[in-house]
Amino acid sequence: MSSFFKSLFSKRESTKEEPERAGLEKQKKRKSKKKTKNEPGCTQEKWDELVESGENLSGVDHPFPVTKEELKKHNTKEDCWIAVRGKVYNVTTYLPYHPDGAKKILKHAAIDATGQYMKAHDYVNEEEMLKTCFVGPLAE
Ligand code: HEM
Repeated sequence: MSSFFKSLFSKRESTKEEPERAGLEKQKKRKSKKKTKNEPGCTQEKWDELVESGENLSGVDHPFPVTKEELKKHNTKEDCWIAVRGKVYNVTTYLPYHPDGAKKILKHAAIDATGQYMKAHDYVNEEEMLKTCFVGPLAE
């Protein structure tokens, strides 16, 4: 390879790699500084274990279509329902596990919180994470 081509090649590599590396460093810094607001011991791993145990956390024996009137009644720390993407979940047990704190969910409890949920984290798979908390579809 001529030196002309060699220099072209190495230049392309360094400009391509450096912004990526800088981005990775920033991401690492952000992650290590990130404070979570879940209760002590209420980790994502513990939540996954609880869900995988299959214990029914929905508070109902069988799923049923939930009207907005019914949903509205479940707006406390002791009895907290939330609708996301057409499904209603009883998230009372999940509250202390929420990485951004129980308050954030409680603020949007008892309503269709799809918009706020998607804004915060459209990548979170609530259907899987809350499968044992499912109360029923949100009625039209
Ligand atoms: C319906 C039940 C919900 C579940 C299962 C859930 C789950 C999660 C999970 C797993 C995370 C960590 C995400 C990560 O590590 O990147 C998280 C963070 C967060 N959640 Fe939720 N969430 C729920 C409801 C909500 C609602 C209603 C809001 C209202 C805005 C909200 C706002 C946030 C925020 C702001 C964060 C922090 C995001 C960040 O650090 O970048 N969540 N949630």
